[in-house]
Amino acid sequence: MLLIFILIFNIQCNYLGQVSQIRSDLIRVYLFPHSHDDVGWIKTINEYYFDYHGVQQIINSYIEELIKDKSKHFSQVEVAYFKMWWNEQNNTMKDNVKQLIQNQQLEFLSGGWCMNDEATTYYEDIIDQMTLGHKFLLENFNYVPSIGWQIDTFGHSNTQALFSNMMGFNAWFLGRIDHQERLEREKKKELEFVIHSDEENSIFTHINYYGFYSSPQGFDFDISNPKRNYVSNENLEQKSEGLDQYFKQQCKSYRGKILAHTLGMDFEWSNASSYFQQMDLIINRINNNSHKFNMIIEYGTPKQYIQALNQQNVSYPFQKEDFFPYSDHPHEYWSGFFTSRPSFKGYVKRIGRYFQQVKRFYSLVQMNNIICDETIIQDLSEALGTAQHHDAITGTAKQYVINDYFNLIHKAYIKMDNQISSFLNYLSNTSEILHSQCQFNESDTCDSLFYPLSQNKTVIVTIIDTKINNDGQQEYLKMLIPKNLNIKVDDELGNPIKGEIICINDQCTLYIPRQINNSKLLHYIKIMVDFDNNSKIIRLDPKLIEIKKDTKIFDKFILNYKVYLSNSSSLSSGAYIFRPIGNATDYGDYLSAIQFSGQIIQQIYFEKTTLKVWISRFDNQDIFYIDTFLDSIDISDQQGREIILQIHTDIINDNIFFTNSNGFKFQKRRLNHRESQNIKIKEKIAGNYFPINGAIMIMNKDGNSACAVLNDRAQGGSSLIQGVIELMLQRRLVRDDNKGLFEILDEQEIIKGKKLGIRQMISHTVIFYNHEQQTNLLREFQYQQDLQPLLYFSTQPSIRYSVLQDLFQEFLIKQSDINLSKLYIEPWLQKNQYLVRVHNMREEGIQKLKFPKELTFQETTLTGNQELKVWEHNRLKWSDKYPKEQNYQYKYDEVGPMRIKTWIVTI
Ligand SMILES: *[C@@H]1O[C@H](CO)[C@@H](O)[C@H](O)[C@H]1NC(C)=O
Ligand SMILES: *[C@@H]1O[C@H](CO)[C@@H](O)[C@H](O)[C@H]1NC(C)=O
Ligand SMILES: *[C@@H]1O[C@H](CO)[C@@H](O)[C@H](O)[C@H]1NC(C)=O
Ligand SMILES: *[C@@H]1O[C@H](CO)[C@@H](O)[C@H](O)[C@H]1NC(C)=O
Ligand SMILES: *[C@@H]1O[C@H](CO)[C@@H](O)[C@H](O)[C@H]1NC(C)=O
Ligand SMILES: *[C@@H]1O[C@H](CO)[C@@H](O)[C@H](O)[C@H]1NC(C)=O
Ligand SMILES: *[C@@H]1O[C@H](CO)[C@@H](O)[C@H](O)[C@H]1NC(C)=O
Ligand SMILES: *[C@@H]1O[C@H](CO)[C@@H](O)[C@H](O)[C@H]1NC(C)=O
Repeated sequence: MLLIFILIFNIQCNYLGQVSQIRSDLIRVYLFPHSHDDVGWIKTINEYYFDYHGVQQIINSYIEELIKDKSKHFSQVEVAYFKMWWNEQNNTMKDNVKQLIQNQQLEFLSGGWCMNDEATTYYEDIIDQMTLGHKFLLENFNYVPSIGWQIDTFGHSNTQALFSNMMGFNAWFLGRIDHQERLEREKKKELEFVIHSDEENSIFTHINYYGFYSSPQGFDFDISNPKRNYVSNENLEQKSEGLDQYFKQQCKSYRGKILAHTLGMDFEWSNASSYFQQMDLIINRINNNSHKFNMIIEYGTPKQYIQALNQQNVSYPFQKEDFFPYSDHPHEYWSGFFTSRPSFKGYVKRIGRYFQQVKRFYSLVQMNNIICDETIIQDLSEALGTAQHHDAITGTAKQYVINDYFNLIHKAYIKMDNQISSFLNYLSNTSEILHSQCQFNESDTCDSLFYPLSQNKTVIVTIIDTKINNDGQQEYLKMLIPKNLNIKVDDELGNPIKGEIICINDQCTLYIPRQINNSKLLHYIKIMVDFDNNSKIIRLDPKLIEIKKDTKIFDKFILNYKVYLSNSSSLSSGAYIFRPIGNATDYGDYLSAIQFSGQIIQQIYFEKTTLKVWISRFDNQDIFYIDTFLDSIDISDQQGREIILQIHTDIINDNIFFTNSNGFKFQKRRLNHRESQNIKIKEKIAGNYFPINGAIMIMNKDGNSACAVLNDRAQGGSSLIQGVIELMLQRRLVRDDNKGLFEILDEQEIIKGKKLGIRQMISHTVIFYNHEQQTNLLREFQYQQDLQPLLYFSTQPSIRYSVLQDLFQEFLIKQSDINLSKLYIEPWLQKNQYLVRVHNMREEGIQKLKFPKELTFQETTLTGNQELKVWEHNRLKWSDKYPKEQNYQYKYDEVGPMRIKTWIVTI
């Protein structure tokens, strides 16, 4: 009796703080009221926020409840929304919120700008969107998130696991994993385990019971739930028993006696008071009768749960493999979204890479005491952050929502570009001269080049190159030029530059080699009409050739374009799902082909009825640049089509291939097999597709013969046939896949008054190499692709840039061979602070650093929100059976291979 008395007493006074110590036989359940507010999906971000019962109301509502009752907790996930709400509040409310955070009633899970997708995002963009959210929380609340929260993403990547640890998370929570694997793990009590994403980093992982993030079935009391079944005197006992049974069942799948469960679904909690009231009735019933139920339920946060769990001293299994592709049904693999909406994926990737360089340039300008407008960086960060959301970059939002994301980024990009233009004016002591980028696509011309040339004006092409220590290496610039003009290109000293022009179907492209010189950031060349005939630019002559489906391109590989027809059953391809009827077949008929053979460039061009292809190589190397223009896909026969590119090689890869995870580390894949689980793969094509965002590679057993394909945006890909790499380029469908979008993936554009499927220019780089001896080669191409120089066109007879003083000029010590380290710099909280990162992209080899004496460096976790030493000291340790290895300890001034280090630098 005494025991129960104390128990009740405890419940009343401090919502259970010590209960479990008093009676260790009780099952203890933490319920997590949490937000799941998609940053755009069926509606746009603004619609979701301002809607009746929308996010604004949701946050108002739960905050009010937390203020009223200290036993209530809430976990907010999406900082994008929280910032919108925060900016509307008065000081009284702001103080209240700060108090709630201090009480630990309000926690932020993940704390990213959004819950980013894990398949189609690039690693730099993940870091940036997490940093953006963490910076907001640090700046406003001095708050450091400690829990990762990826409960809705469609599969989980090795990189996200790795970064979760590097960001200072003690654990992360996942929802969706392969349905067969879930059952296995439930049986073996392996829904909690430790992921070792590499030799140094591990993260405790919790898989939510039954795979989602909602309330236990029958206990979703939200006013938005039409099936809600409120508690009454009549059903209270029955409902309490039901919940008790549910948790006793759940207990069988986890180790120990502490359980966790989410409360809430998409856009729930707009009437938190009624939700809590209902739940309270059942919780009180169960807690007040612990002799019957042997269970204590309380509201809490994942952070509290993880701390309690950590004290249990239980040993957990470990895992190395990632979780792709996700499937929730034997015939439904979520590998379609790896490719869905390639134009949006391409745009986000391109602007993302542009932004990395721009931030560095911007910081350098600012360090030279030139006035900059920081809101411009903030706007583009937020727009790109939003785009990483798991229904944005994935291509699984409605068309008009995708258009909204496009506009958001485009507006911010234009502002950023204007800022760059004004920097260039400032640095060249000119004013009001427009410097603008122009983009390549199929038939459009670059006005900023064509128009002035037609007026006999000189065009200055400013080259912003943020690479480091790559002096002397050669790269190639490519520009569309007017077809009827003879042009001349001069370097900065006025010397004519060599170049070659290829004209195909009235479209002319100029290729010029460029020696990299990293002693400064800004370079330029001059393009003008050639009247004196002293140009060193040569036009190459075409030679007719024949290309068929088994033709070896440049005697090296066969390039095929094929089509998968989508299944027309109720389980069909959609924005998420890939489900082809059978093997891919040839796509389109061959028309014509020509070849150009210059000193600089060799190019093969061919047309099929469905597409056009340019395959270029420079200096006769075994590196091939493929540009594919994919025309509108014909679906007039009501048949969905998914188009792929195949590279056929002679490599014997024996069902093994490698795909890099968010462009970061390579993951080994084996056809029809998962390393960690015994899973039957019923869809032989879709179930073997993996996300490729960076590169896919095959090699023979000895590794001395390898082929890798790099892509310019996220795509699905695989190696289904010996020696063949395939990547999916585009999908145009006629059915929805019933995963909630309820809109058919059929992107269109209007061309000459006709509605067509959207057309695309997509690029790949194919590399043949010796993987054993050239371990870093693949990374070299990734490095070059990411750091392609930015070209700005302006019209003026001449230009002269003043040189910027660069405090980081010697920060990265020059290697004896090629440099593969990226340096990131962006403004931080204080005016004289910068967030600085170094990513050593080498697979082998250390990057040495030399810290400039006049600057203070403080090493931090990946998102810059806490000192690394503090995190390493405070982090929770978990026991598992992972064999401990003696790793090389990198020194403070070393960055190991494929490692990233982050500092806050004060100037
Ligand atoms: C601050 O905002 C809250 C919530 O909107 C409101 O209830 C309160 O009256 C406001 N306080 C002041 C001083 O304006
Ligand atoms: C919340 O729901 C309760 C019960 O349905 C209702 O009485 C109350 O008016 C609602 N509150 C708001 C703010 O809508
Ligand atoms: C059950 O416990 C709650 C507090 O946890 C208390 O307010 C309530 O009065 C109790 N009910 C009964 C029937 O004992
Ligand atoms: C944890 O468990 C291990 C054996 O499983 C035991 O050796 C150790 O003392 C325990 N630690 C604590 C703090 O209970
Ligand atoms: C900038 O241009 C102005 C005139 O346009 C000139 O007076 C001034 O000396 C120039 N400054 C530099 C640093 O070249
Ligand atoms: C080509 O680019 C221009 C502007 O850069 C754009 O307006 C046009 O829609 C693009 N065309 C295609 C086919 O992508
Ligand atoms: C460009 O210069 C050439 C040669 O000086 C001249 O023939 C032509 O008319 C000029 N074109 C324009 C548009 O000024
Ligand atoms: C499809 O391709 C696979 C792999 O090449 C092959 O084993 C299978 O026989 C093909 N199926 C059909 C129906 O052609």
